Amino acid sequence: MAENVKVAREITISAIKADVGSIGGHTKPTKEMMQIAKDAVAGAVKDGLLLDGFVCHTGDDIALIMSHTKDKDNEEIHQFAWNVFIKAAEAARKRGCYGAGQDLLADAPSGNIRGAGPGVAEITFTFPGKDYRPAESFMIFMGDKCGPGAYNLPFYLAFADPMYCAGLMLPKLTGPQLKTGFTFEIIDMENIEGGDHYITLDAPEDAYGISMLLRDNERFGIKAIYSRKYGEQAVSCSTDRLHSIAGKYVGKDDPIAVVRNQGIFPAPEEIVSPFVKAHYIGGNTRGSHNMPFMPVAINSPVASVYCIPIVSCLGFSLSVDGKFADNYVDFFGDVSWDVVRQRAQKKAIEMRSQGWSGPAMLPYNELEYSGFKDALENLESRFKVKGK
Ligand code: 13P
Ligand code: MG
Ligand code: MG
Repeated sequence: MAENVKVAREITISAIKADVGSIGGHTKPTKEMMQIAKDAVAGAVKDGLLLDGFVCHTGDDIALIMSHTKDKDNEEIHQFAWNVFIKAAEAARKRGCYGAGQDLLADAPSGNIRGAGPGVAEITFTFPGKDYRPAESFMIFMGDKCGPGAYNLPFYLAFADPMYCAGLMLPKLTGPQLKTGFTFEIIDMENIEGGDHYITLDAPEDAYGISMLLRDNERFGIKAIYSRKYGEQAVSCSTDRLHSIAGKYVGKDDPIAVVRNQGIFPAPEEIVSPFVKAHYIGGNTRGSHNMPFMPVAINSPVASVYCIPIVSCLGFSLSVDGKFADNYVDFFGDVSWDVVRQRAQKKAIEMRSQGWSGPAMLPYNELEYSGFKDALENLESRFKVKGK
């Protein structure tokens, strides 16, 4: 028995994702790019930089999912990820891929790579050793062709609405308690003057205020969610807006998120069930349309109706060594999600039937592709004023 007991230490899950090139248009990375990333991660595990690692893709974005003891925003871990993306981008360039190096917006970022293009989501926790957290299980959500606030509604529902997480209603009698609720850290993605502008609001008391902000998926995004009773971080989302970083359209923002589940947090089914809605979000072609968010298996290409936004979700368990259990769960790969995919595509076809009209496209101030702005400005300059 004793040989399994390890001293508690700080373990970090880092999930870092970037689009560095894709085949046949903006669909998926090449096999060679994926192999480069997988070999690099396996090498980093062997060399002791990482405790464990896993590589997959969602649409044209490669995700590196890593466990280690180096804390959040760690230079070595971030530089490792950056170098993997650089190598994969070189392979993409050589093969003539579309968008080679697209999300690598800085020349050579020093230190951590937040704000340099790739999406970064990280959570650090002590493991093992907490009596209320005997096992560590977590999920990684990976979105493609979607705006940064794509998870606002589903994560709000999972962590603040008992219609989705019935566990929120349980009083503290025995076992872990969810009833005290969760603290939402929400970031204003439009306001980047002088640093991050964020607010922390507690559910359930501030539920209306949280909804007021999260309804705007383009401007406000959930950055983190914490258990109020235990102080433990449940969720970390990448919420960078690429156009705020680059000053021009460089692709959608395609967020990645780490979500811890079970026990003091909602169960996985409570976290994934809001995705049944396939709710409309900004994204798609040129990042300019509102379309349903479709759950898909990992390693899916973007090949559906009008490149609708897609999301995949993996579940992992962590051993006391910080290693991932010998397998993973591909939540949205399950056949039970086929019915949601059908609905998503029906919703997409309905929305697309009205082309550019009204809610089918994002409002002018959200159209990220600068050509649209130029076209509008040109037309505006040609307006004439008629006197009464
Ligand atoms: P990506 O960010 O996935 O490249 O999507 C951009 C887009 O919408 C291009 O049409
Ligand atoms: Mg792309
Ligand atoms: Mg992408």
